[in-house]
Amino acid sequence: MKTYRVVILGCRSRGTAAARVYHAHPRTEVVGLCDLLQDRLDTLGDELNVSARFTDLDEMIRETSPDLVAIPTAPALHAPLALRVLEHGVNIEVEKPMGMDLLETDAVMAKAEEKGVRVAVHHQWRLHGWAQAVGKLFDEGRIGDLRYIFASGKGYYGGFGLMEIGTHLLNSMLRFGGHCQSVTAHATTRGRAITPKDVLPAPRGNGTIAGDHVTATLQFENGVTGTLLQHQFEEMDVHAHVIELYGTEGRLLWHTRGAWFLPNPHAVPTDGLDRWQKLKPLYPDSFEEAAKLIPEGNLTDGDYWFVDEYVRALDEGREHECSGYEGRHVVEIIMGIFESAAYGTRVNLPQANREHPLARWRNEAGLGPLEPMPMPDQEWHIEEKKRLG
Ligand SMILES: NC(=O)c1ccc[n+]([C@@H]2O[C@H](COP(=O)([O-])OP(=O)(O)OC[C@H]3O[C@@H](n4cnc5c(N)ncnc54)[C@H](O)[C@@H]3O)[C@@H](O)[C@H]2O)c1
Repeated sequence: MKTYRVVILGCRSRGTAAARVYHAHPRTEVVGLCDLLQDRLDTLGDELNVSARFTDLDEMIRETSPDLVAIPTAPALHAPLALRVLEHGVNIEVEKPMGMDLLETDAVMAKAEEKGVRVAVHHQWRLHGWAQAVGKLFDEGRIGDLRYIFASGKGYYGGFGLMEIGTHLLNSMLRFGGHCQSVTAHATTRGRAITPKDVLPAPRGNGTIAGDHVTATLQFENGVTGTLLQHQFEEMDVHAHVIELYGTEGRLLWHTRGAWFLPNPHAVPTDGLDRWQKLKPLYPDSFEEAAKLIPEGNLTDGDYWFVDEYVRALDEGREHECSGYEGRHVVEIIMGIFESAAYGTRVNLPQANREHPLARWRNEAGLGPLEPMPMPDQEWHIEEKKRLG
């Protein structure tokens, strides 16, 4: 069985998490690290005993001949770095969201197709142990026919939450609902409908956004509908995001700390809630042994499942479950939500116009280029409060 050679481009928080998994998985080996900052390279290289350390990504790829390049970098760099890496004709995985608009995601997929390589987007929420437990019952038909999917974010500023967390939630919804055909959405800022002046650069450089509360209705295949809420709360909860499937015979609900099954389509406080059954998370066979290689429980099952799936996909010559095609469709839905909220229309997917709809909306209103906003969350919110008065 082939061991896949992996290099990591970007060695801070997410790069460290990715490198640990590729190091621990029995079918992958970290053969090179790249970062612009030598101390990050050395910290991670020393931890995993990887001596091939580079500050130039092209040199790293030329010298290490990897099968796969992981690109865990800041959002605005996802597509530009993916394009640069794909030029070498190598498979990639890139952090979510896949790009800041559809022009970027289209360019990445076109380059991957030209070079005949695979793209995966690091949407590991679709694959973690609780999601696997839900997927198993779903595939066994335990909730009957799926009718509706509910998902809600962590409480971030709505448009930012859509880019940051909605990308995971939507990708998970696609696992069950299939292709999303159309969206309608409402977005408000301080309780009033958004205007072109509410279009802003997101915190953390996560694209162009609008609205502190975003509510979207999604139409999937086979008559399945869904709702995605990205509403801002004064206090956010990093574990608050939730997804729930409503079937003709039961319901399934999960987040990153648990999953539950209700063997009945209806739940009311008097006789329903106590009937929710807690599920057990599922892990790949090799997970327990691999976790021993990484100290202090620092190997997360979602990331591990993601890598395990990449190994199987490459072995079988097929797309990753969280492929670039799925990642691009997620960005189509996000852009569709912004377009629907801005123009007050239903948006059919895939949309012909691949420009960012909020940028177009602002331009049409004659507002000119966006004023920059701070990248860190706290400073961004101070500026936004000043703007709103
Ligand atoms: N999948 C998840 O659950 C999850 C969770 C949190 C964050 N994220 C995503 O992860 C990303 C942020 O990860 P992070 O906080 O580790 O990022 P970061 O920006 O802090 O670190 C990226 C590293 O990449 C390096 N880098 C940037 N350009 C480079 C280049 N051209 N060559 C070499 N090195 C380069 C930087 O020096 C930096 O050390 C975001 O996209 C975010 O959306 C995903």
